[in-house]
Amino acid sequence: MTGRIRNRQLAAKIVEAEEAAELIEPGDNVGMSGFTGAGYPKEVPGALAKRVAGANAEGRPMQIGLWTGASTAPELDGALAEVDGIDVRLPYQSDPVTRERINSGRMDYTDIHLSHVAQRAWQGIFGELDVAVVEVSGITAEGHLIPSASVGNNKTWLDRADKVILEVNSWQSEHLDGMHDIYYGTALPPERKPIPITHPADRIGVPYLECPPEKVIAVVETESPDRNTVFTPPDENSERIAGHVLDFLESEVRVGRIPRGLLPLQSGVGNVANAVLAGLGNGPFDQLTAYTEVIQDGMLQLLESDKLRIASATAFSLSPAAVDRFNRNAADFRDRIVLRPQEISNHPEVVRRLGCLAMNGIVEADIYGNINSTHLMGSRIQNGIGGSGDFARNAYVSIFMTPSVAKGGAVSSIVPMVSHVDHTEHDVDVIVTEQGLADLRGLSPRKRAERIIDQCAHPDFRPALRDYFDRAMSSSYGRHTPHLLGEALSWHQRFIDEGTMRTGA
Ligand code: COA
Repeated sequence: MTGRIRNRQLAAKIVEAEEAAELIEPGDNVGMSGFTGAGYPKEVPGALAKRVAGANAEGRPMQIGLWTGASTAPELDGALAEVDGIDVRLPYQSDPVTRERINSGRMDYTDIHLSHVAQRAWQGIFGELDVAVVEVSGITAEGHLIPSASVGNNKTWLDRADKVILEVNSWQSEHLDGMHDIYYGTALPPERKPIPITHPADRIGVPYLECPPEKVIAVVETESPDRNTVFTPPDENSERIAGHVLDFLESEVRVGRIPRGLLPLQSGVGNVANAVLAGLGNGPFDQLTAYTEVIQDGMLQLLESDKLRIASATAFSLSPAAVDRFNRNAADFRDRIVLRPQEISNHPEVVRRLGCLAMNGIVEADIYGNINSTHLMGSRIQNGIGGSGDFARNAYVSIFMTPSVAKGGAVSSIVPMVSHVDHTEHDVDVIVTEQGLADLRGLSPRKRAERIIDQCAHPDFRPALRDYFDRAMSSSYGRHTPHLLGEALSWHQRFIDEGTMRTGA
């Protein structure tokens, strides 16, 4: 025993992971912890995958419905997908094996706004939740669960599941205790009340998760690190995108639309987002705050340099080096980091009230400002919408960022018409590529098209986009949002047929 389990009743339920995995039945819906590779159960999923492999070999295929906070790791998504152990997956994933299973049609995937998951679960939309498998960093003598490096949907899973399996991971810092804010005031309409957050630092709940001990059917002790993705240093394109975003924010401050300390930042995951945060570290802004989904390296650095006063999120997503620094100094961060359930970290009401500045990565944008964040060539899912819609729809300024080309220059990220829509033109304020920034606020579709083509498209694709727009202007069915419908998706088809969007290649 590691000393992390101080409740006698729960300590008496400690078993090996294999024994716990036997308690999950074929066909069960299982709600697991985990968000951007943090705080997911480390051993029960692997033991379950072994069991599934054994059942498959005996000709009795076994599958579960797998619900999480967001993405997990190879030990969870990867292991279960590898043995075809997942029937339906929700609400977000970024695992290569899972992605392959979904795109080959062998696994169903329901891609959901992350703030919506809890209410859908309470409504019973996904069916009954049979088992919750949740990683915690400790259990108090009273039986309170000290959350781990992510909160995600854990509160909902613990409340909704018939049976609970806990993994207590002693690798997680003991200093996480006190960092979380678990709000138990949510309800379905018509009982719903305002969420009383008016500043990212506000704490409105308790620092622990509750779960009746009699629901807990097994406790497993682990000592394993989170996924801890290494961030590549920002490349030239990311730095240029970051530069454009910083210039834009400075000009917004200059004209008095946002204050000098900016407004609460929301930053998506990935290297471009990380580069923007790095840029903020060298920029003129102080006393920053963040109301976001994930705390990644760039945000930790801003906290360390005191540029960022407070960060509210639902999870960490740190590189090994940053995890090491965090674990050594976690006590110092406790008053400046708040980890909340994802229904609160991404709550549209709070995002709107605080006036978040939302910055998210995309797959492609079209000349009118519609955004595809999820599907390559309209049909192949990459990750999922995640929290981008929660923030973009409700942000004070909604910024979307992408390099202007992909696939070694064969693909333009600015296209005549997006092949899949996640964010409509109505929710997109600013599009940024390394070429430049298009501020679309207040513009008509035709003015948006001109600005996006001129500011954001790669010079190699700009003439073809202009040509498309000009011809659409002269022969489109209507001139409000001119399109040549027979041609609008031909760029994607050309890539599928010829491996490039370029003509005459
Ligand atoms: N057309 C075709 N493929 C494209 C493409 C385009 N326009 N743009 C990117 N791709 C491909 C890349 O080639 C790469 O494929 P590969 O791995 O086979 O090389 C893949 O898509 C990922 O691209 P990459 O540039 O590495 O992505 P990224 O790490 O910058 O992430 C998103 C971009 C859109 C995938 C990511 O931001 C995302 O999942 N967003 C949605 C969720 C979200 O916004 N979450 C944050 C909310 S809080």
